Amino acid sequence: MREKSHERCFSIADLRELARRRIPHAVFDYIDGGAEDEITLTNNRRAFDRYQLNASALVDVSQIDLSTTVLGEKISMPLLLSPTAMTRLFHHEGEIAVVKAAQQAGIIYTLSSMSTTSIEDIAESSNTPKWFQIYVWRDRDLLKNFFKRCKETGYRALCLTVDLPVHGNRERDLKNGLTIPPRISPKLLLDLFRHPYWTYHFLQNDAMQLANVADHGLASQKQFILKDYIDSQFDPAVTWEDAIWMVEQWDGPFVIKGISHSEDAKRAVEIGANAIVVSNHGGRQLDHAPGTLEVLEDIVANVGSKIEILIDGGFRRGTDIIKAIALGAKACMIGRPYLYGLCAGGKEGVDRTLQIYQEELYRNMQLIGCRTISEIDSRILKKTTELAAIK
Ligand code: GLV
Repeated sequence: MREKSHERCFSIADLRELARRRIPHAVFDYIDGGAEDEITLTNNRRAFDRYQLNASALVDVSQIDLSTTVLGEKISMPLLLSPTAMTRLFHHEGEIAVVKAAQQAGIIYTLSSMSTTSIEDIAESSNTPKWFQIYVWRDRDLLKNFFKRCKETGYRALCLTVDLPVHGNRERDLKNGLTIPPRISPKLLLDLFRHPYWTYHFLQNDAMQLANVADHGLASQKQFILKDYIDSQFDPAVTWEDAIWMVEQWDGPFVIKGISHSEDAKRAVEIGANAIVVSNHGGRQLDHAPGTLEVLEDIVANVGSKIEILIDGGFRRGTDIIKAIALGAKACMIGRPYLYGLCAGGKEGVDRTLQIYQEELYRNMQLIGCRTISEIDSRILKKTTELAAIK
């Protein structure tokens, strides 16, 4: 049997490159791009270069245990899947492929409220622990309805995203004229011819919709621009008071994602959140924000003993995860990397993504001399003042 291309990918960078070749340019740009000059995007990656790893020698590393817990849930490695909007745009198997890969790997999946598969269909398709991500719609009844549907279908935690009061300025999408679903313009036509597999499935499958809100506002139209949807439906006036209301309404494990400041981390503790995700939305919102790893240390120093701290933003290697854990994160989250896998090979491509992280974590923990996640601490880190060249 011919080897599939994603099986020849040995790193997340390889999967990214394969994804780039497999899907139309405008769709790839939507995944890959950041806001404005993409400085935050670059800062997320650069932050990893500030830390080097110091190995201990002659430790018995014949057995490594990657497992850990997040909000009391045992997971096979300290990695969770971040919510990503519009996942069927990237591959027709969409969110279902991703949640099934999460189940196979033994990790938590977070469904986006802007998903193209419904809360119920995801719940039915896998029994891996699931979180549901929410944005704050102006229509609060819609939120209450989400909470009810998630409780009924067994989602373990609610994850409130707080770094998107308005849509970030993603110029690649503006230049590409990206609509949901994509409008077949003369420019796109050539792109579609170059990607027959994606195009065949795009035309063959049911029209893509925001499955949880399909009959609501602009989402009920045949085609819309994501920025227009967000700016018309999401409430930019949301404050901590609303977050308190959500904690009470949900009455279960509550995660706040998009924290980059220790004062906000303290507020999250005060209002009863159980975990925070240090995140800048993968550099897709505010430009010129610091890399998430750079702010982690301060946040851990302020609230590390009071709340579980997760982080995302540019995690592309097992060593990246090890650095974050050494700085005090409980686990890390990824978005783009599993989408690259999805574009490259559907569910099997996501499996490959997770396998790469698993293997890199395992091997690098052996090389460092840490046998369990709890053995990873700041003693293995050396902070550098010089920044390595940007890749
Ligand atoms: C949605 O959350 C996006 O970043 O596009």
